[in-house]
Amino acid sequence: MNVLEVKEIKKSFGSKKVLDGVSFSVPENCVFGFIGRNGAGKTTTMRAILGLLKTDDGEINVCGEKISYGCVPKSCSIGFLPDVPEFYGYMNAREYLMLCGEISGVGKTELKKRISELLELVGLDKEKHRIKGYSRGMKQRLGIAQALINSPKLLICDEPTSALDPVGRKDILDIISAAKERTSVIFSTHILSDVERVCSRVAFLEGGKTVFSGSLEDIHAKRRNTALDLTLAHTEDIKRVLSAFPKGKETDTGIIVPNASDKECADLMAFISAQMIPITCLERHEADLEDLFMEVIGK
Ligand SMILES: Nc1ncnc2c1ncn2[C@@H]1O[C@H](COP(=O)(O)OP(=O)(O)OP(=O)(O)O)[C@@H](O)[C@H]1O
Ligand SMILES: [Mg+2]
Repeated sequence: MNVLEVKEIKKSFGSKKVLDGVSFSVPENCVFGFIGRNGAGKTTTMRAILGLLKTDDGEINVCGEKISYGCVPKSCSIGFLPDVPEFYGYMNAREYLMLCGEISGVGKTELKKRISELLELVGLDKEKHRIKGYSRGMKQRLGIAQALINSPKLLICDEPTSALDPVGRKDILDIISAAKERTSVIFSTHILSDVERVCSRVAFLEGGKTVFSGSLEDIHAKRRNTALDLTLAHTEDIKRVLSAFPKGKETDTGIIVPNASDKECADLMAFISAQMIPITCLERHEADLEDLFMEVIGK
């Protein structure tokens, strides 16, 4: 069963159309990457899923229940980690989670047990200090524990890793991976290596629409050995090669030809050889998420 179904949602702010047909679904126990560049509409979509924003059109279902503005599903809960989580700095982690659990209506005995489990999950179980002394990474980790306090079926994290260093990012991705045993996770990002590390499914948001939605396996199966990556010895030659191969996209050091056929590969080799253009590398490789992202956003 799908924990989340988003169907053709649309939203304008005044005359500005931000969402123009966003559709995707998230199955159970899945980590889902919601990818889009700055201003693509990721946070807007998440606010709509949480019932915090009135959409103009479309439908959202969480655990089979239709979400409407100002309402939450009755049969399951949704956890949320905002992009910049705010805390009461004078509390410690345990006190803060106790407060969140009480507000969420979790029983006292159950709450104590859950707080211990969650603090261990996010690696803050030995931490005694007040939250005001926490680093950004520690705050994100506490934010995930807070978002999981009422055992949600769906955990929504808005750019949980964007402001963190590589170690902090790895910690958060490990926690998200571990959390999928108990919940489905959707997280927004523009860091594609993070997506490749933990997600099994993704959606790309561009121009207000989901331009691709599916499993990472599908992406890789469709695009095996298709990108042709040419590194030139002199960047002045880029324009000459591009004029003969307009399908290619300029990179810092050469060109990349997405979806290159065997013939295009042979043609390119023949061209650089006939024109005696010096190269440092010609490589045919599986297109990664970054290639696909560049392709769908038309760069
Ligand atoms: N309440 C609002 N009123 C007017 N415009 C808004 C409002 N909320 C969002 N927008 C606009 O909608 C667009 C999408 O914003 P959103 O915050 O959803 O993007 P995002 O993909 O989350 O970007 P980022 O990666 O920077 O967080 C932006 O152009 C933003 O200015
Ligand atoms: Mg955002």
